[in-house]
Amino acid sequence: MKKLFKAKKVKVFSPASVSNVGAGFDIFGFALHIPGDELVMKIVEKPGIHITKITGDDHHLPKDAKKNTAAVSLRAMMDAIDGKFGVEMELHKKMPLGSGLGSSAASAVASVFALNVLLRKPFSKSELLMFALEGEKIASGNTAHADNVAPCLYGGFTLVRGCSPPDVIAIPTPKDLYCTIIHPHIEIKTEFARKILRSQIKLSDAVRQWGNASALVAGLMKPDYDLIKRSIEDFIIEPIRGALIPNYFILKETALNNGALGCSISGSGPSVFALSRSEKEAKLIGSEMKKVLTKIKLKSDIFISKINHEGPKIISLSDTL
Ligand code: HSE
Repeated sequence: MKKLFKAKKVKVFSPASVSNVGAGFDIFGFALHIPGDELVMKIVEKPGIHITKITGDDHHLPKDAKKNTAAVSLRAMMDAIDGKFGVEMELHKKMPLGSGLGSSAASAVASVFALNVLLRKPFSKSELLMFALEGEKIASGNTAHADNVAPCLYGGFTLVRGCSPPDVIAIPTPKDLYCTIIHPHIEIKTEFARKILRSQIKLSDAVRQWGNASALVAGLMKPDYDLIKRSIEDFIIEPIRGALIPNYFILKETALNNGALGCSISGSGPSVFALSRSEKEAKLIGSEMKKVLTKIKLKSDIFISKINHEGPKIISLSDTL
């Protein structure tokens, strides 16, 4: 067993992410510095995957390794290395479930990233992506979309051109971009938020959506802030999902009126993200959006973060259990 590992215990951080980013349903995403999950992993003699503890927003999370996102992705990875060893995991959920912030992706990435840190011969990021996707699938009704897993694992802003084989493109972003997240205290299950979408769309809507998705990439890379502002617009998903979030269209208008470059639903919601060019603006947008929800007596959290270019990271590593 010693040959396989260079250390026995690791604690890692795995970030939340914003996916879709307007017109990029299932293909765009970026990682945040806060919130995020922490996971402690130990290599043990007893074969199998043992989840010993789940803390934080754990009200539905199963410890059963066949049903837990972090364990399912880890199982795919262990099968690839003939893993007859055992792994114990503690999962500290430091972000809300069903929030649209890539909670399941963060857990799926945390476990495979952690085991990779312990291995003498680590896997590549695209291999880890495939393992993490197995975990993500069980959280979203068995559909493989990597728009949270990719930014969580690679860091930065990612474009997922395809999943099999993985084709993830890192999109450079302007340094001064800030993201405001408002998380209303309601839960939306991704599986449900996907079921309500239309399976067919009008060609004219598709053309407008392609225009915005392509223009957002160009706007971020140039950078061209006016172009970013014109491109964070979603003609296909937002009109349907917007109805699931109380006062969503007022929240959006409030963000834009207070200087946001763009505002839309984060992933499948209910969190809403807004981009801006300074911390001051990001905070103002957050406090003004919060007022909108306070008026209807809906509690919310605000997170302010720049884009996280690092992705998951090691908090501590040791050779003693
Ligand atoms: N792209 C996904 C969706 C993200 O919007 O359904 C949530 O997993």
